[in-house]
Amino acid sequence: MIDIHCHILPGIDDGPADMTESIRMARIAAADGITTIVATPHLKDRIDTSEIIAAGVDELNRHLTDHKIPVRILRGADINVMLTTPKFRDYTINGTQYLLFEFPHTHMPGNAGHIIFNAMKEGLHPIITHPERNPSVIREPDIIIALRETGPLIQITAGSLMGHFGPESRECAMYLLKKGAVDFIATDAHSYDNRPPILSEGLRVAEKILGREHAYLLVEANPLAIIEGRQIPA
Ligand SMILES: [Fe+2]
Repeated sequence: MIDIHCHILPGIDDGPADMTESIRMARIAAADGITTIVATPHLKDRIDTSEIIAAGVDELNRHLTDHKIPVRILRGADINVMLTTPKFRDYTINGTQYLLFEFPHTHMPGNAGHIIFNAMKEGLHPIITHPERNPSVIREPDIIIALRETGPLIQITAGSLMGHFGPESRECAMYLLKKGAVDFIATDAHSYDNRPPILSEGLRVAEKILGREHAYLLVEANPLAIIEGRQIPA
């Protein structure tokens, strides 16, 4: 499986504090069947340059090789959609056209569609992260379905399907799955204990709704297409 949203770089955001914790997270991911992780530090209050992120990815990969942990780390970022300063193209997933956009946790901004449209006009392809945890979407999930029809892709969090973000997020995630409006399930992991990088449990829930083949697309073929810069198959 491939996890396109994971806070695994040490000491860069609210993810792991140090390399030891990052390595522990990678071990958990490997045991869960995850082979590739896109490292997606927050671009929000603090904006690290893409060079800092790339250096962090290289260093973590070196440690994983030394520890013989069969997981490879790729570059990415978790970009707050309200940011105007960074050059989005510097923060795409593995240097492709795809990038993660996160909405504020409090609401869905009225100009979200406009921001996404502008990014697409520049040749970028936004992936909206965990809309099922956004109060505006929980109230009215069809707004995100309508937005998806204009081009962006949708990632939900595995933990939402387990109820880790409350019953409303779980219900919203399941509704979006049933409507066929989910393109990826990712961990959005932040630690080895509270929010570990585990996809399989959420995948089991998705399998019950979508069937095994379709559910696996969301953690295998679709994310593989993203890291290779191709169109997703479903
Ligand atoms: Fe995140």
